[in-house]
Amino acid sequence: MAEKNNFVHGIAYGKLYLAGEYAILEDYSKALITSVDKKIIAFVEPANEITIFDTLNKISVGLYEKNDNFKLIQEFLIFLQQYTQSKKTFALTIYNELHGEDKKYGLGSSGAVLVAIAKAMLNFEKIKFDDITIFKLVTLFNLTHNISGSMGDVAASLTKGITYYQKFNSSFVKELIKNNSITEIINADWDGLIIKNIVPKASVNIFARWTGECVDTKEHVKLWKENKDNFKEEYSKFVSKSNSLVADLAVNLSDGNTSQTLENFRQLRDNLHYLESFSNIPMETIAMKKYIDTYPAGKQSGSGSGDIVLGFDKSDAQFNLILNLEKL
Ligand code: PMV
Ligand code: MG
Repeated sequence: MAEKNNFVHGIAYGKLYLAGEYAILEDYSKALITSVDKKIIAFVEPANEITIFDTLNKISVGLYEKNDNFKLIQEFLIFLQQYTQSKKTFALTIYNELHGEDKKYGLGSSGAVLVAIAKAMLNFEKIKFDDITIFKLVTLFNLTHNISGSMGDVAASLTKGITYYQKFNSSFVKELIKNNSITEIINADWDGLIIKNIVPKASVNIFARWTGECVDTKEHVKLWKENKDNFKEEYSKFVSKSNSLVADLAVNLSDGNTSQTLENFRQLRDNLHYLESFSNIPMETIAMKKYIDTYPAGKQSGSGSGDIVLGFDKSDAQFNLILNLEKL
């Protein structure tokens, strides 16, 4: 893509959960989430008025123009104006590779779009930033706009490669929000939050395949929450098992322990089946089970019963992620 001199941009990557889904909704839990070779790029250039164009909707709207497809982005831009204290006008263009024509793959588009916009806008305002600042900005916006979830998708979209994400303490951040300005909240250390990159040395191929089925993660998270009080012991068993497997997997991936890596993935899948057994959150469709059975190890990625399924196998050399977006 040719970039003119007066443009600045921000990039965010599509994501896939490797380990830690559901458990990551809890404070201090851990997940491993990888980027994929598809991204969102936001471009910003000076203009006489604020406009937003994206390649999904293929239309341009103004900041205050009523349009349901752009509502969240409009609100996010207003939130960023409060943070940057800027009244500059600009044209924002969003190139989104995370959706096909009328197809949703579950690659984390809603988190990534805000990450790309935040990076582009701070570049436009010539404000220096790091990944944690972008994470906090997007997360703060989400928390104050009724968008729930672990924010693992936001963490993973910041950089290429595998992200080790430890969830922040929600009540700590809620308290911060009550008593402080945006800048104070962003500048504070968030209790629990860890975002770091893992360099995989295990010789593993990951075959990620689109199932062709769309999942509404929100519905799954609702079921997770609804059952929590009735199955306290089971939930806590599931969460601690997930966290210890994620910690193990992070070590085995980094140290190049290929067989143990595959074993960790099998155990993570078993643990998700355990969660399903008492919560009734549907995890694997029949097609997903069949796909997983053709590999030495495999599991769902994320909320399950659709989106993308993962097969794992030993590779001849280094770690590889092969994403196939043809319908299973
Ligand atoms: O379906 P995905 O890839 O968006 O993953 C959802 C992961 C959950 O843990 C189920 C929810 C969340 O917000 O982390
Ligand atoms: Mg999903």
